[in-house]
Amino acid sequence: MSGPFPERGWIGAEQSQILVEAVHRLSGISIAPTKTDFLEHRINRLLQASGVANVVEYVNHLRLNPTGPAALRLVEALATHTTSFFRERAHYDWLLAVGLPAVVAEGAGLDRPLVIWSAACSTGAELWSAGMVVDGFARNRTLRWDLVGTDVSQKILVKAAQAIFQEEDILPIPEDMRKRYLLRSRSPSGAKPRYRIAPELRSRARLGWANLLDLPSAMALTADITFLRNVLIYFDAEDQLRAAANVARRIRPGGYLLTGHSEGLASPPPGMTPVAPSIYRKE
Ligand SMILES: C[S@@+](CC[C@H](N)C(=O)[O-])C[C@H]1O[C@@H](n2cnc3c(N)ncnc32)[C@H](O)[C@@H]1O
Repeated sequence: MSGPFPERGWIGAEQSQILVEAVHRLSGISIAPTKTDFLEHRINRLLQASGVANVVEYVNHLRLNPTGPAALRLVEALATHTTSFFRERAHYDWLLAVGLPAVVAEGAGLDRPLVIWSAACSTGAELWSAGMVVDGFARNRTLRWDLVGTDVSQKILVKAAQAIFQEEDILPIPEDMRKRYLLRSRSPSGAKPRYRIAPELRSRARLGWANLLDLPSAMALTADITFLRNVLIYFDAEDQLRAAANVARRIRPGGYLLTGHSEGLASPPPGMTPVAPSIYRKE
């Protein structure tokens, strides 16, 4: 492919507008076209990785193939995947003390598996943190339970499935859980070890692609407790409500939805009642 601009670096106002509209249409991620530094940085990385000469060429290709691989690469390039183990710790304390006993009292884990869903799971740190808490809770009870992680980025889902983390990633995990749920790599001397989530958690997890704004009707999922955290902030107000409503539909009556502490919804999702800051219960 060749284009009129020899350099990758520059993104004009028209291209910015087309790119932000495309990523919004594909994922709901809402970026101001005036954030040119951010756009240039991310798009230039994308162009380099795809061997495309410049943004004009990429935008033309995107116009002709609005849902093809180039479009998926755009979402990959503009999504932010920041996450960490036991992020917003209060939710995990609530899960152990309140959430799990409440859903088990409704039959979860007994007459059917208890399902925890991380609905924008990124690298899986949120999913595995929840898994560690549920495993500890379930140990002396005969509970059946599963983990489900979904994300709009295929690339990050591959990472989540590998379930391999660096030393600095695992620091927030309590010591006893590190011992129980992490396998340490045997690294050559001097190399930093890496850590893999133990098979007892990995074997419980299903990971898959899903767009929160357009959840596939074929997706067979009813969750007891859903983490929908630190993703709504990337959507505009209308899409926040749409995503939360889509997710709420997949939660069992008596189940719970957790949003990020800084992600106040303008109104609770249909059929849900706020029961604590950033926690909703399905009626
Ligand atoms: C900042 S991370 C949050 C990860 C985790 N939930 C947490 O709180 O640490 C946001 C994730 O949302 C995903 N995402 C963005 N738009 C999405 C959409 N429309 N559907 C599903 N996932 C989406 C991104 O790919 C990214 O991995």
